[in-house]
Amino acid sequence: MITEKGKTFVVSTEHTSYMMTVLKTGHLVHLGYGPRINEIPDPAQFLGPEPAIVGTVCYWDDDHPGVIPTNLALEYSAPFRGDNREAALVVDYGNGATSLDLLYKGHRVYEGKDISSPISLQPEDGNETLEIELYDSATRISVTLSYTVFPCSDVIVRSAILENNTKNDIVIKNIASMQMDIPSDGWTLYSYDGAWARERYEHRRELQPGITIIDSKLGFSGNEHNPLIYLENSKGEAYGFNLIYSGNHRELVEVSPFGKTRVMNGINPYGFEWKLAPGEYFTSPEAIMVYSKNGREDAALSFHSFINEFIVSGKWRKKERPVLLNSWEGCYFDFDEEKVYHLAECAKELGAELFVLDDGWFGKRTDDTKGLGDWYTNRDRFPNGMEAFAERIRSLGLIFGIWMEPEMVNMDSDLYRAHPDWIISHPKRRPLPCRHQFILDLSREDVREYIHDSVALILNETRAGYIKWDMNRAVSDLYSFSDENHPIGELLHRYIFGLYDILGRLKKEFPDVLFEGCASGGNRYDLAMLMFMPQTWASDNTDLYDRVSIQEGTLSGYPLSTMGAHVSASPGHQSLRVSRIDSRFNIAAFGVLGYELDVTRLSEEEKNAIKDQIAFYKKYRKVFQYGEFRKLRISDNQRFWYTTLGKTTIALEIQTLNEVHTGRNDRLYLPIAEDGKMYRISARKEYIPSSFLGDKSASYGKNTTEDFVAEVSGTILREYGLVLGPQFTGKEFQDSTRILGDFGSRMYVIEELG
Ligand code: DGJ
Repeated sequence: MITEKGKTFVVSTEHTSYMMTVLKTGHLVHLGYGPRINEIPDPAQFLGPEPAIVGTVCYWDDDHPGVIPTNLALEYSAPFRGDNREAALVVDYGNGATSLDLLYKGHRVYEGKDISSPISLQPEDGNETLEIELYDSATRISVTLSYTVFPCSDVIVRSAILENNTKNDIVIKNIASMQMDIPSDGWTLYSYDGAWARERYEHRRELQPGITIIDSKLGFSGNEHNPLIYLENSKGEAYGFNLIYSGNHRELVEVSPFGKTRVMNGINPYGFEWKLAPGEYFTSPEAIMVYSKNGREDAALSFHSFINEFIVSGKWRKKERPVLLNSWEGCYFDFDEEKVYHLAECAKELGAELFVLDDGWFGKRTDDTKGLGDWYTNRDRFPNGMEAFAERIRSLGLIFGIWMEPEMVNMDSDLYRAHPDWIISHPKRRPLPCRHQFILDLSREDVREYIHDSVALILNETRAGYIKWDMNRAVSDLYSFSDENHPIGELLHRYIFGLYDILGRLKKEFPDVLFEGCASGGNRYDLAMLMFMPQTWASDNTDLYDRVSIQEGTLSGYPLSTMGAHVSASPGHQSLRVSRIDSRFNIAAFGVLGYELDVTRLSEEEKNAIKDQIAFYKKYRKVFQYGEFRKLRISDNQRFWYTTLGKTTIALEIQTLNEVHTGRNDRLYLPIAEDGKMYRISARKEYIPSSFLGDKSASYGKNTTEDFVAEVSGTILREYGLVLGPQFTGKEFQDSTRILGDFGSRMYVIEELG
């Protein structure tokens, strides 16, 4: 709901309100963002008398000596007009001049939302939008800020549209998607950072005066810093921000000398500029934001439901996703048709529903130095062609899925030999390689056509039901050989929009195909990719211990349904860590489950264990993919994950290292258990291989975990915890002895009774 009185605005979601007002000087200022209020506040009660600030800062004019731009909580800012903080909008409108007065000109409230960008979220019934135009009378440049609310959601969607009403070209140097000046300091910033194989680890920092920047310069949203951030204060209030964009992004937080905290996000100005001719406009990517008085975990749940409802679209929106087996870690490049067929046969026996043929099926691609770009079947490996192979997979009763990396090319490929000018590279430099590959220039129409046609051909020929769309490098040597001659500062943004153009077309033409985004694992895990591809491969690292951090970080902003998580071999190919197959499953089950190992070489016991895992996962698939994810940290060594849907919760107790002779019984907690309700708890049975117990195997005498069933009240389950059997402690086994081991875990199904 959006309400207004005079020039005071309240943008309300189900549980939150965002308030702004226009000062007499025309500045649009932020009043507060917090729990919902059903009134229009008197701005004076939020702003109070103008504080006395003296010294070197500029004031507005002699009629308004108390209006100090650098101390206002501005909704959007520009440089060199008294605000000394980082500016949301930097426009060169002539000879480097950038100063602007962004003052209120007008506003409108309407049902629906702006869709002027290819990645604008689609309008939904119940959308309401407030647009406020800020105008600089000296140049006639105007920027329109947009605030949209969605039905039954606490997320506010924001964007900024810049219009060039001048008579000359202007150049955008920076255009933030949103700015919010929180009228207080003392906030803690949470960001999700890493690199290949350790994506989205959560980091926290107490903010001090000055600027903190989280950004990507990789050309893509990147694995180094995700666009997701949170601010939390000591009262436990949290603000969450994310950006619907897959290119370079920047999240900037600035604590001012006067106790205010500015937050903005948008396209990273690094390497970016955009020429706007008279009469043209530029729409920023949309930003989403959320407030919660119960911390960032609660805020994350608002993001989760928003993504499931409004970001993911098409056939796979809110649909259960198939359990897959992917050929990569089981075969890498070493396979022929029969080998992968046997893998698929075995996967089917175990209960998988989708077989994904990963890298190595096309051109001369027998290793990663060659073949990328040549999207025709390697007939040495598949003598009867891919169409015939896909048919064989389907006749096993499996969906056929295929890997492609359409944005890239190896120099050793027919494509590169024919079109050396199609890659992003500088005419005077040797292009820097990365995994022996180079990036095709998607700002060019001929390149986009080639990519679209290659993918469409494979999908048509094979009738694949799934495609894994990979992208394995960072950008370098920014330059385009296109004869359209756009400024190089526009290239990365044009690239990303070129990608959206291809994906948009493919999504329309192949509405049933499930797209999974992948970029060396999680190098492009962002909201815009999720608009085209409902799920993303979270990380090439499938190690169960590292995955705890990777998946927790990912789930801080993205729902379970979007996150691919696989069970792979032991010792793990990234960590060499040894682990039990059920411990690996427990972690991978919190997401979209897959397997990525040579299942044909497993023991019969391990195969049976996988059969049980997949059957269990299918039974609770909705809970694993669409439940509300929560977590509870008991100590550095023990934590719980939960996913809850309706009356069912799956709880996972995760242990880092086995501690000996603690004399302690672990307890199972459910923080959302309710007073006056009863809960039935049962442990999922796990397979304990005799190799895991070694000499102790005979005295244990069985190869599964203990039976555990209990009923307990909500109050006990929430406040005191349900006591569990003791862990193995170096002596004899009893029926109740629990074996978790290092990096072990135990899964419990908790049903609310009645
Ligand atoms: C990187 C991906 O993240 C892997 O899963 C795999 O598909 C390889 N590329 C194949 O080259």
